[in-house]
Amino acid sequence: MRIGVLTGGGDCPGLNPAIRGVVYRAADFGDEVIGFEEGWKGLIEDKKRPLSIKDVEEIINYGGTILFTSRTNPFKEEKGPEKVIETLQKNNIDALIAIGGDDTLSVALKLHKLGVKVVGVPKTMDNDLSQTDYTFGFFTSVEVAVDALNRLRDTAKSHKRIIVFEVMGREAGWVALYTGIAGAADWILIPEEKPDYDKMCEHLKKKYEEKGYALVVVSEGIEVPIETITEVDEFGHELLQKRGVHEYVADLISKKLGISTRSAIIGHIQRGGPPTVFDRILATRVGVKAVEMVHEGDFGKMAAVSGNKVISVPLEDAAGKPKLVDEEWLNFMKVFEK
Ligand code: F6P
Repeated sequence: MRIGVLTGGGDCPGLNPAIRGVVYRAADFGDEVIGFEEGWKGLIEDKKRPLSIKDVEEIINYGGTILFTSRTNPFKEEKGPEKVIETLQKNNIDALIAIGGDDTLSVALKLHKLGVKVVGVPKTMDNDLSQTDYTFGFFTSVEVAVDALNRLRDTAKSHKRIIVFEVMGREAGWVALYTGIAGAADWILIPEEKPDYDKMCEHLKKKYEEKGYALVVVSEGIEVPIETITEVDEFGHELLQKRGVHEYVADLISKKLGISTRSAIIGHIQRGGPPTVFDRILATRVGVKAVEMVHEGDFGKMAAVSGNKVISVPLEDAAGKPKLVDEEWLNFMKVFEK
């Protein structure tokens, strides 16, 4: 078989181990693997390279993606889907493995409905994909963010300040929640819960009086009453890091409490660097599973984690249905508001 593979959407640590998993498992079946570059753009423009074991054997510890990525949406391009199908036919591709988050997998689903034999591999540092317990990239990003929060603690303590730390996550608060809990923040603001700033400031005042500093983790996607001038990508998503959420929250705290407050944003730093062991194994497992699904003719599905098993689930049930922080997790988060 000739299997095409691409990585689409925002990069995250784990993409290279997933590509590696695909190439290694494909070798068991004697398949050829063709890597399309820059996500769906590579299929529109026929940009590709063959991938052998030699190309991927050492990439397990590299962040980013050797295939490059983009936020190209073929359904927003003139004759985009037709061009994708044409490229697949021209290259004699029997099946396509699309590695990506909700946007990439939504495109995969639409193409599947047009007859393309496609299997999805879920990735996103936001961890907001339904039908899978975790997505690779998430734990590595959280590790990076927790390290940054620890560093902010040192300086907050020394200067007796409050520091507000903004992390990514789009409309889901998973990154902020895990960072805040694992890094012992004093307050966590996530999009799933309307901010109660009076309650937050009252708590921060108490913590500041107790220990001389306080830390807040805020998710980029929270609602704030500020004018947002941001770019919008081909999937209609705003570039949230430009909204100034951390500055807004820090300003509000310093005005309300009169305590010296600073803010920081980690931005794309949390998307780079070597994947953690957990993400390496997870990404490799879903990459391997995707090739097995191709050979079982299990198309229109994605490789997903359920408990400790890697299973196949319909793309239809996952795409366009974000997994948000639910009540159980919100209650867990509140245990630490003391
Ligand atoms: O979806 C992953 C993500 O990292 C979000 O957390 C963030 O809002 C967005 O991508 C940033 O997008 P870009 O890399 O296009 O700036």
